[in-house]
Amino acid sequence: MTAHRSPLQGSLASCLLTATVTLAPAGSWASGDAKAGTDVFAAQCAECHSMKEGKNKKGPSLFAVVGRKAASIADFKYSDPMKAGGFVWTPEQLDAYITLPKKVVPGGIMKFDGLPDAKARADLIEFLASVK
Ligand code: HEC
Repeated sequence: MTAHRSPLQGSLASCLLTATVTLAPAGSWASGDAKAGTDVFAAQCAECHSMKEGKNKKGPSLFAVVGRKAASIADFKYSDPMKAGGFVWTPEQLDAYITLPKKVVPGGIMKFDGLPDAKARADLIEFLASVK
């Protein structure tokens, strides 16, 4: 018997491939759309945060925040728990913080309840990562 792939196997393989391609990025920040993230930032964060370097509002400037050490803007008055956090704003850490700020930094002073929409967070983080 020759090992020809039946049309069924072929379509199953391409179907699996498509599924992998479309499903793999789900829940991963890398799948975000920075352009859509601009709108999320404007709606959820801009009240308190600027993306301009050195410009603090109610919250610290988020210029180049991805990869930055938490509480590292010298002229911003962070809460003690944020200063004690000692973490780096990786995409994963940002994702957790934006989901539920009070869980990641208990006693922190960011008055934001959290963004439960994973797609909006992914887009937002992609946008944050693009400003550096
Ligand atoms: C009501 C005002 C407010 C809103 C809305 C807000 N933040 Fe904040 N944010 C703050 C404050 C205040 C701090 C300082 C927190 C602390 O020291 O505990 C902060 C801190 C942060 C930090 C830590 C920065 C650093 O230098 O370590 C990040 C990251 C952050 N916010 C992201 C966001 C994002 C993204 C959004 C939108 C989804 C958002 N924040 C919405 C006020 C706000």
